[in-house]
Amino acid sequence: MNRKIIIAVDGYSSTGKSTAAKAIARRLGYIYVDTGAMYRAVTLFCIQNGLIDSSGKVSDRLKSLLPDIRIEFRKSGGSETADTYLNDVNVEKEIRSIETASHVSAVSAVPEVRELLVGQQQLMGQAKGIVMDGRDIGTVVFPEAELKVFMTASPEIRAMRRFSELKAKGETVSLDEVRRNIEERDCMDTHRKVSPLRQAADAVVLDNSSMTPEEQLEWLYERVNEICEQA
Ligand code: DC
Repeated sequence: MNRKIIIAVDGYSSTGKSTAAKAIARRLGYIYVDTGAMYRAVTLFCIQNGLIDSSGKVSDRLKSLLPDIRIEFRKSGGSETADTYLNDVNVEKEIRSIETASHVSAVSAVPEVRELLVGQQQLMGQAKGIVMDGRDIGTVVFPEAELKVFMTASPEIRAMRRFSELKAKGETVSLDEVRRNIEERDCMDTHRKVSPLRQAADAVVLDNSSMTPEEQLEWLYERVNEICEQA
């Protein structure tokens, strides 16, 4: 497959977007970008700088501080996946915490934050050969992406997946708390004014509730093949 394309993977939280996106990127030799990590890094910056009040409201001061936020993805020590760095500090673990997760929807609803990150994401995709996962990749970041995938899975399966992930990382959290967090984020992500999560008209739906990661990868690879054969 000589032709390089853009693959946009959108969907609800914990539908396995990053697992699927990473696997297909590896198979094709493409770059993988986790845009959720970028919104999470901005959220961590807000927490660290006292920009979120006790009611969860994001301070207007964030707008003037945006130029101070530098997010990068760096690979460390021969690992296959990149870690997220916020102003030169590896924040991969902190951005996955339940505290960051509980504020990320509010931060990602700030129009200036979206404008900044979308611009950076579009630059990353200029040379194509990229798989990007998020909420607005097929609708806003790359509306011209050759392949748009919208991922879903049942809410129970999604909560279980996130719960196991957090437990494996040593976080003390209950399944109920995780389920509530997922429901709240679904609601905020789909109802926010700026770039709400929605399925692009030309996206293909991938419901992986009862699919293995291998089956999912084959399914994606077939879609890429179909597109590249058409060209
Ligand atoms: O994919 P994730 O769960 O790591 O994303 C974290 C949050 O970031 C999610 O609740 C919504 C937001 N997000 C977004 O608004 N736009 C994106 N492109 C990616 C994530």
